[in-house]
Amino acid sequence: MAQEIIVAGIVGSLREDSKTRIAVRTALEGAAESGAVTRLIDLRDYDLPYCNEDEEDSTAVQRLQRDVGPAHGLILGTPEYHGGYSGILKNAIDLMGFDEFEGKIVGLVGVSGGSLGASQALQGLRIIGRALHAWVIPQQASIPQASENLAIDSPNRDYFERRLREVGRQVARFAALHSSDEAIEFLRAWEEAPSNPGADD
Ligand SMILES: Cc1cc2nc3c(=O)[nH]c(=O)nc-3n(C[C@H](O)[C@H](O)[C@H](O)COP(=O)(O)O)c2cc1C
Repeated sequence: MAQEIIVAGIVGSLREDSKTRIAVRTALEGAAESGAVTRLIDLRDYDLPYCNEDEEDSTAVQRLQRDVGPAHGLILGTPEYHGGYSGILKNAIDLMGFDEFEGKIVGLVGVSGGSLGASQALQGLRIIGRALHAWVIPQQASIPQASENLAIDSPNRDYFERRLREVGRQVARFAALHSSDEAIEFLRAWEEAPSNPGADD
């Protein structure tokens, strides 16, 4: 990668023994393997207020925005909570916005306690990515029964780690591609193109 690419991973669980944190960290390892500089954003390190549209000038919010803002790519990590993503992650996203997300490459990883995985949580995050005008990559990693499958001695750990790393690798690669001069030129031309060039003929 010629240009330095930064990939930040946000951990959507505050639990000390969080499997989401393992998932995000592993995805970031994949991004680093593809040459990105990585940052783990552990929401335990930020004393964030609830989003209420008045608190956005708080120091913790500004620090979160400052830490996430420079990233070219983002990994969002969440547990499956009652068929959706976690409130802590949604609150953090709500305290940010287009400045931190628009035009960025986003990869999704999730964990669950049960055997169905975190696909409903990830589906919800995909919709949020669209609303924030981010490019959410199709590849995602959902880890069912995460306590068992991500345990050090689990026979399945290698398989799930590979899937998590692949999400990070793709985010780093697409972020690099997206930041290249050719891609920027293409996107500029695309935005300036008439919406339906054949319509006047
Ligand atoms: C409020 C709450 C709701 C949960 N809902 C689900 C669920 O719908 N499906 C599931 O498989 N696991 C569910 N779980 C289990 C978590 O997904 C599981 O414990 C996961 O490892 C938590 O993520 P963490 O380890 O990063 O904290 C729920 C846990 C909590 C605390």
